[in-house]
Amino acid sequence: MDSIVVTGGNELKGQIPIAGAKNACLTLMPATLLSEEPLTLTNAPRLSDIVTMTTLLRSLGVEADVKEDGRVLALSSQALTSHRADYDIVRKMRASILVLGPLLARDGVAEVSLPGGCAIGARPVDLHLRALEALGAELDLRDGYVHAKAPGGLKGGRVEFPLVSVGATENVLMAATLAKGTTTIENAAREPEIVDLADCLRRMGAQIEGDGTSSITVQGVDRLGGASHPVVTDRIELGTYMLAPAIAGGEVECLGGRIDLLGAFCERLDAAGVSVEETSNGIKVARRNGHVRAVDVTTAPYPGFPTDLQAQMMALMCVAEGISTLHETIFENRFMHAPELSRMGARIYVQGGTARVTGVEKLRGARVMATDLRASVSLILAGLAAEGTTQVSRVYHLDRGYEQVEQKLRGVGAQIERVQEP
Ligand code: EPZ
Repeated sequence: MDSIVVTGGNELKGQIPIAGAKNACLTLMPATLLSEEPLTLTNAPRLSDIVTMTTLLRSLGVEADVKEDGRVLALSSQALTSHRADYDIVRKMRASILVLGPLLARDGVAEVSLPGGCAIGARPVDLHLRALEALGAELDLRDGYVHAKAPGGLKGGRVEFPLVSVGATENVLMAATLAKGTTTIENAAREPEIVDLADCLRRMGAQIEGDGTSSITVQGVDRLGGASHPVVTDRIELGTYMLAPAIAGGEVECLGGRIDLLGAFCERLDAAGVSVEETSNGIKVARRNGHVRAVDVTTAPYPGFPTDLQAQMMALMCVAEGISTLHETIFENRFMHAPELSRMGARIYVQGGTARVTGVEKLRGARVMATDLRASVSLILAGLAAEGTTQVSRVYHLDRGYEQVEQKLRGVGAQIERVQEP
């Protein structure tokens, strides 16, 4: 397993290109199942999760041509050969559940392994299942699989989510495009990835209104066509690299970044004394006057502060002046980066879903271990500001969601390299 070694102390200067969004691409790819015509995705990120989704779609009979070194995914599902998403693939990547709605909508049958939990929480899929049942799906849970069918096809219905779920909104939105009649989705997720999916589905001929708000209406159509669609910029990668100059000092321009993708994140950075300036190329970030102030953060569905940036923000708060409180309201176990940051001298007190961070003058480099995707990158950010060397092990977590992280940070002056561990 590889490790990443960071030697802190360098101020950062220069530009970092931001890739297409992992969490948009992982829902855009299954959309190919809704049509027998080709779907081409451009600006795709080169990540192991995308490779896993490609493998899953191929196992269903989708032709997937990966072009331009992974930037372009040419997908075509003219004739499916299977409707079964196997446990061996699904357990590696929970987003595999997103083939359930499209398979049901297209052929009225699907067998998808339940994903099981992951490091940050139990991650149930009950909301996905209830929503599809509201469209007439008949579901039978046995031997760890969802056995689903929709004899006579799905029918439009009313879905009202008791809590906001990005994945469940995506699953039922895709299914509703081919359901007979009208579907309304209340308390829908409003994330930019939902809007990007709706844009792509409209290009394929779907009739969708209200995406980006909490109330979405879909008029089902008989069939969808092909399309070519650019994957939206990754707001979580963007936010992650915006925090790099905030933690290490200097000034970085994130190319392709858009402020409207970030919700409350920018306001919290501003409150912490970090300047965020939209330029013609993206977003330029620097400390406003040399130091960073502690601020409180509460994660929430978009447009609130993204849970996927909580670990990275905690790294910044570790070296801020004062005491900050971070409330994680989305997942039940998303502070696993805290004990690793504490090995670097951070002062963090975790109680339930709340972490209180007392900023310190300097962190000290140490050997630390990545536990999940966003925790791993928060350790790298902390290493940028630490005295000495930090070695982050188990960086396979990192490769799921960040393209070439060492090249991108080295490109703005960080001392960082990947080493093979025996
Ligand atoms: C998506 O996960 C993202 N993943 C996550 O990013 C992100 O953290 C999350 O949305 C929240 O923004 C992808 O898009 C592939 P949810 P998802 O359904 O859809 C509960 C990353 O680091 N829930 O919005 O699985 C759930 O347990 C990943 O890139 C149910 O109870 O998240 C959680 O507490 C991590 N029942 C809350 O809802 C369900 O059926 C929000 O989860 C579904 C979810």
